[in-house]
Amino acid sequence: MAEVSFEGTAEEISLKEVGLRYEVDGEIATITLDRPDKRNAQTFATWSALAHIGDGLPQQVRVVVIRGEGPSFSAGIDLRMFTPEGVPGQGSFASSVALGEATFADRVARAQRGFLWLRRPDIVSVAAVQGHAIGAGFQLALACDLRVLADDAKLCMKEPALGLVPDLTGTKPLVELVGLSRAIEICLTARVVGAQEAARIGLAELVVAPGELDEAVRDLTAALLATNRDAATATKRLLQGASGRTLEEQAAAEGREQAARIKALFGEGSGKAPG
Ligand code: ACO
Repeated sequence: MAEVSFEGTAEEISLKEVGLRYEVDGEIATITLDRPDKRNAQTFATWSALAHIGDGLPQQVRVVVIRGEGPSFSAGIDLRMFTPEGVPGQGSFASSVALGEATFADRVARAQRGFLWLRRPDIVSVAAVQGHAIGAGFQLALACDLRVLADDAKLCMKEPALGLVPDLTGTKPLVELVGLSRAIEICLTARVVGAQEAARIGLAELVVAPGELDEAVRDLTAALLATNRDAATATKRLLQGASGRTLEEQAAAEGREQAARIKALFGEGSGKAPG
């Protein structure tokens, strides 16, 4: 697929320059973190590019796979951010102190946009994780609906050990998946969670041998695509809203979504209406 250009913070940069590959094959989009020599470290440009991909995702896409090239899914934020020189064209943590509160908040919000779209109800996002998923890498995996792990996967919320908080949308899914106590323990010790434990505590849907990761993701994707597209979207919307509703509210929401489904399937103009 042709390289995609987008407006970066200061200039037009290509996906290749930020270390991403993006391919669309029918209903499947695959985003590959592609800086294996730097263990797929991420920068603000990575997150702008992810947001840009989300904004322009073709309507036919139903499954978005995020994977990493090389031995690690992602070693997290580019450690040059911690140096005075920073990342060329993107500054450093030290230089961001001078930005002012509003500008800084805006920068964080723009970074988070790269992660938030992965929860859209009309798609299912799948993280395929091998090796290390540290900090921003762990949060990117958490931003996806589903996680398939190779059994060498090592998840680590390193931010608190570096004096930071996880701010790339990872805290809410982590708490929802493992519960508050376990989330506190994982984050505040910044320890490594291995693949088997990840599966046991709800951080992974599937653990496979490293050589089988791509095939496992392909099988999962095929199963996801086998269901009715609009029913899948409506069902994901229902499931996402469930924890914020009472049982009665959720039941009412189910009824509304079903009415829309029945109308679409059997109503006038559907081609299936009797008579
Ligand atoms: N940022 C920039 N470069 C990195 C990063 C990173 N986060 N992680 C690894 N690299 C680079 C290394 O500097 C090295 O580069 P070089 O070959 O030019 O010297 C190369 O990637 C390979 O790294 P190794 O450490 O040699 O690879 P190894 O497989 O032995 O270890 C591991 C991988 C465990 C991921 C290790 O690189 C590591 O601990 N990285 C830092 C993780 C980290 O603290 N990330 C920040 C988390 S906080 C956040 O994301 C907000």
